[in-house]
Amino acid sequence: MKAIAPGKLILSGEHAVVHGQPAIAMAVDRYATASVKQHARSLVSFDLLNIKYHKDHSISALRALKNQLLENYEAFQKGEKGIKDVLKLPMELTQFAVTNFLDKLNHKLTSGMQIKTHSEIPIGCGLGSSAATILASIHAMANHLNIELSEESYLNHGLEAENLQHGRSSGIDLRVSYHGGCLQYHNGTVDKLQPPKFPIYLVNTGSPKSNTGECVSHVKQVISEELLTEFAKVTTAFKQGLLENDIANVQQAIKNNHQLLVKIGVVPEAIQSFISMLEQQGCAAKLCGAGAVHGDKGGALMIVSEQDPTAFCETKSYHCELIHCDTDGLRIAS
Ligand code: PMV
Repeated sequence: MKAIAPGKLILSGEHAVVHGQPAIAMAVDRYATASVKQHARSLVSFDLLNIKYHKDHSISALRALKNQLLENYEAFQKGEKGIKDVLKLPMELTQFAVTNFLDKLNHKLTSGMQIKTHSEIPIGCGLGSSAATILASIHAMANHLNIELSEESYLNHGLEAENLQHGRSSGIDLRVSYHGGCLQYHNGTVDKLQPPKFPIYLVNTGSPKSNTGECVSHVKQVISEELLTEFAKVTTAFKQGLLENDIANVQQAIKNNHQLLVKIGVVPEAIQSFISMLEQQGCAAKLCGAGAVHGDKGGALMIVSEQDPTAFCETKSYHCELIHCDTDGLRIAS
C-alpha cells in the first residue's frame, strides 16, 4: 500500500496565518511517499530513506517515546522548554505520527507493520516535506488497516504531529497537501482557487539554520495588530491579481509581502540582497514558509517574472527551476 502526498508553496501570508489571517498556498509537483506492509514479527519497522533510519520497535517502546514527546510539548507550552527541545531527532516526527494514529483509533495491532517513507521534497526548506510525509504515512496505514478516515481526522492527526515541530501550526501545509491545487486558508476554512496561470520559479536558497518552530516563536514576539492587517491586505491583493491573472498586481503584492517578512525578521540579509537584485531585473520574489531567524539561508524562494530568471540566478550561484501545481493532493499511488 503506497500513498503519495504533494509538497506546497505558500504564495502569500505565511506567519500571519498562524495568527488568524488568510494565506494562499499551492500544492507543488514534488512528492513524499509512504508504503506500509505486514511485518513478519509483531513489531513496527521504520525505513525512513531520506534520513537513512532503519529500525524495528515494539509498540510499547513507541508508546513510551510518544508520551515523552507529549511531555516535552507540554513543557514547551508552559514556557519551560524551547521548541527545539520537543522533537530531538528527525525520525521522531514520523514515529509520533504513526503511534498517535494507532492509539487515537484504539487500534490493537494484531500483526506488525513495515513503514517505508521517501521524500523528494527538500527537508526543512519551507516546501511542506513534514506535512506531506505525515499525511502519506497516515494514509498508507489507514488503507493497510482498512480504516476510513474523514478529512478532519487526517488533519487532526497531522496537526498533533506538526505542532511538535511548529509549536503551534496553522494547519495550512496539511490542508494544501491533502486537497492539492491552490487554496486560500483562513481560520480553518478552505476556499479553492484557480491555480496561477503565470509561471512560478523556485530557488532553494538552502536549509535554514533555524527550524519552523523557532521562527514561529520569534514572530510571536514581534508581530502586531498593525502588521497583521498589512499581511491580510497583501494576501487580498495577491488573490485579486491571481483571479484576474494580472501579473503586475501579483508582483506588487509579492514585493509588499517580502517587505513584511523582512519587518518580522525572517529574511536573512543575504537573501534580502538577492531579492533586491531580482527586483532590479523586473522580478518579484519572496521567501515561502517559515524563512530563517539565524544564518544566511532561507529555504524556498518563489519568483514571479515575465522573463525567465534562471540564467540570472545561475550568475548568483542559485539554481532556479519552474514549479507546477499538483491538483490531486493526497492519494494512493497506482
Ligand atoms: O514549515 P514551513 O516552512 O512550511 O512554514 C509553515 C508556515 C508558517 O506560517 C510559518 C507556520 C504555519 O504553521 O502556518
